[in-house]
Amino acid sequence: MDLDNGTSGSQNDAAPTVENDPGKFSLSDFLVGDSKDPLKPPPAFTRWHHVGEWAIELYEPQLLGPAEARTTLNYNGKPHPVINLCSYNYLGLANHPEVIAAAHEALRTHGLGACGSPMLSGMTDLHRELERKMAEFLGYEDAMLFNSGFGGALGTISGLLRKTDVAVMDNRSHLSLRDGAVLARTRSERFEHNDPESLDAALSRHKGKRHLVIVEGIYSMDGDFGELAALMDVADAHEAQVFVDEAHSMLACGAHGRGAVEHFGVEKRIRILYGTFSKAFGALGGFVAGAKETLDYLRFYSHPYVYSCALPPVVVAAILKALELGTSQPELRTRLWENADYFHKQLTELGIDTGNSTTYIMPLVIGDRERMYRLGHELRHRGLWVAPVDYPAVPQDKICFRACVTANHTRADLDEALNILSDTLVPAHLPQMQGVP
Ligand SMILES: Cc1ncc(COP(=O)(O)O)c(C=O)c1O
Repeated sequence: MDLDNGTSGSQNDAAPTVENDPGKFSLSDFLVGDSKDPLKPPPAFTRWHHVGEWAIELYEPQLLGPAEARTTLNYNGKPHPVINLCSYNYLGLANHPEVIAAAHEALRTHGLGACGSPMLSGMTDLHRELERKMAEFLGYEDAMLFNSGFGGALGTISGLLRKTDVAVMDNRSHLSLRDGAVLARTRSERFEHNDPESLDAALSRHKGKRHLVIVEGIYSMDGDFGELAALMDVADAHEAQVFVDEAHSMLACGAHGRGAVEHFGVEKRIRILYGTFSKAFGALGGFVAGAKETLDYLRFYSHPYVYSCALPPVVVAAILKALELGTSQPELRTRLWENADYFHKQLTELGIDTGNSTTYIMPLVIGDRERMYRLGHELRHRGLWVAPVDYPAVPQDKICFRACVTANHTRADLDEALNILSDTLVPAHLPQMQGVP
């Protein structure tokens, strides 16, 4: 691709440039620039950003209200009501009145910030209570809190693995997990998504090493479950440990909300479990649960834990209440899964490709970058908010919107969303779907 010469005089007139064919370029084309100044991005990126501003506008949307099933965005400079299929507020706890009341109370009793590293100055009684309750809830000896989910994944992997170890990861692993392995300077080995044979081959290539197999409960782009039982069988055969990222599944899956490990009945086989509070808990932060001996060590070797401020007590109090509601009200999960099943079935009937999704996260595959951004504006304009997902986050032919349903969507919300999708996407899909030329 001709990145250097975006205006005129390209050596090869047929070669796409960021100006004449911006859709041919993606973020993966601008990683390396030739500037001597690290603060100066590659000029081609700046030109591409300028030309593609209309599409980039769909990112970093500004909410003027809470992350509820229906909310208001700032769109084209004006308040614009939308049905929200863009939020991980799976159980609707982010704005639950009891959660808000608990946060208010903690603000009164403990103030706003923790104001220091948990190791030296930032731990309150509320933090300790949440550690204890998470450990009890998940059936582990101990649990540790992080001020972000990303930091928790990064910090756990980099805190436990060393140079001579091997992180064996599903090739759809979230960046927080991959960056954890980079920070640990450990060897990373990928296996094909959810493929036990490929995992077996990856483990066999490094016999005699310490392995950590890294998988997810639900994959955040594809919305499919990790095949935990089959993958665990392979890991067990190699005596490898397994780390499960339950970011999108904790509290929202399993009869008691204990995630995909509960859903698949493998809880007792997992020695370390990680998740976030930013999704079904409706708050912020991450946790890891495991043996006391493991976490006693990790507390001193996890950089995002030792060298970063603890969660604000106001957030911890809200999470405690979310945990109480999420565990005492299984009907929230029932509603979430009923909504997911309904929406999925209707999308299938409309002929919209939802990839391998079997959960409340559904890609709506478009496969063409420019069309996806144009349709994204059309949907937003019509009052439906879905997330644009572009390459390299997904393969080029899987460029999509991502839709997440929650327990708080009513049937009317979902039906209205389906009508908008049908009016916007389906005519464009019909010829391919029905083989009409
Ligand atoms: C699988 C997975 N792990 C970790 C994270 C990081 O979580 P957080 O957003 O809470 O930092 C995410 C975020 O979406 C995720 O999808």
